[in-house]
Amino acid sequence: MSLAFQIHAESGAARRATMMLPHAAVETPVFMPVGTVGSVKAVPQHLLEELDARIILGNTYHLYLRPGHELVRRMGGLHRFMSWERAILTDSGGFQVFSLNELRKVTEEGVAFRSHIDGSSHFFSPEHSMDVQVALGSDIAMAFDECTEYPADYARARKSLDLTLRWAQRSRDHFEAHKHERPWSEGFEGKMPSLFGIVQGGMYPDLRRESAERLVEMDFPGYAIGGLSVGEPRELTREIIAATLPLLPKDKPRYVMGVGYPDEIVEYAAMGVDMMDCVLPTRAARHGLLFTSEGRLNIKNRRFAEDQGPADPKCDCLVCRRYSRAYLRHLMTAQEPLAAVLNTLHNLAFYLGTMRRVRERIEAGLPVTDLKMEASQSA
Ligand code: GUN
Ligand code: ZN
Repeated sequence: MSLAFQIHAESGAARRATMMLPHAAVETPVFMPVGTVGSVKAVPQHLLEELDARIILGNTYHLYLRPGHELVRRMGGLHRFMSWERAILTDSGGFQVFSLNELRKVTEEGVAFRSHIDGSSHFFSPEHSMDVQVALGSDIAMAFDECTEYPADYARARKSLDLTLRWAQRSRDHFEAHKHERPWSEGFEGKMPSLFGIVQGGMYPDLRRESAERLVEMDFPGYAIGGLSVGEPRELTREIIAATLPLLPKDKPRYVMGVGYPDEIVEYAAMGVDMMDCVLPTRAARHGLLFTSEGRLNIKNRRFAEDQGPADPKCDCLVCRRYSRAYLRHLMTAQEPLAAVLNTLHNLAFYLGTMRRVRERIEAGLPVTDLKMEASQSA
């Protein structure tokens, strides 16, 4: 089963494409805001539409624990439950369970873990992760993987990769057998969700190669590069992405999970990455960190106390058109919930605007990396 992914233009290794998902046409390269529990923190869905977000992330692990995937299925699936008609990608739970450390135990069958909410015991297998993602009704589901920790020695990365490859095959078999059970069949005749494979292999290029080759043999409609942004130096992240991209099919979407700073997402798009996601713009916003064309601002700083200018003079987002730095600083200082709302809106506008400019440059045949200088001021 393939996913329509139409490449319109290329500039160097960068590609400008449209990915036709059941709920939306997604223009790539794309940055996907993270909405872990069925909410992009502090931003209501109608404002995500205003930002022209076409696809957001959801998390299998969190939604399984609360409110439960069966409840979401009874509510008509995650799209209907949260009133978001555009596309949703769900992560498989592999990465979230991996971050639980002491609370988890990995076996061939899957991962036993304890809930971060109430300490109750649970078990995720590749099959169960697929069942949850189908019940949620994602447009794109992710294979259940083990995110290899950093640092990991060669033997450890090898063993982790082998397990992830067996889980990828099990994920694929189960997903293909059950994907038609998606909750949004009505009005979506013939449209099916897609399952992406995830390349692992630690920081070892030969393991990354083996991972990519084996996944390509399994023939997924798209491929992610996982196991990055786990504490490794940034040059290593770039090296692994550079070594892995050429091993993935050119005619399918390529997704780097969990990145990054504004200049990083520009750099990776220039290298040929089509999709990225990261909690950075949303999480940083809640701490008062704003990404702007003039660099990164800590809006809590006293120097903004009487600054009547917008957060970013080059930004035409809802927030920059209307509110001053002085007001945003006041909201943070007073710990007003509106601070999180406005800061997040601006940061997402900055990220989505950066990717829009990346797409325009590819269409114009201009080098994408020229944008990196601008974006790096905010890193
Ligand atoms: N998010 C960031 N990195 C990863 C990864 O390696 N695996 C999964 N499933 N999600 C991720
Ligand atoms: Zn703005």
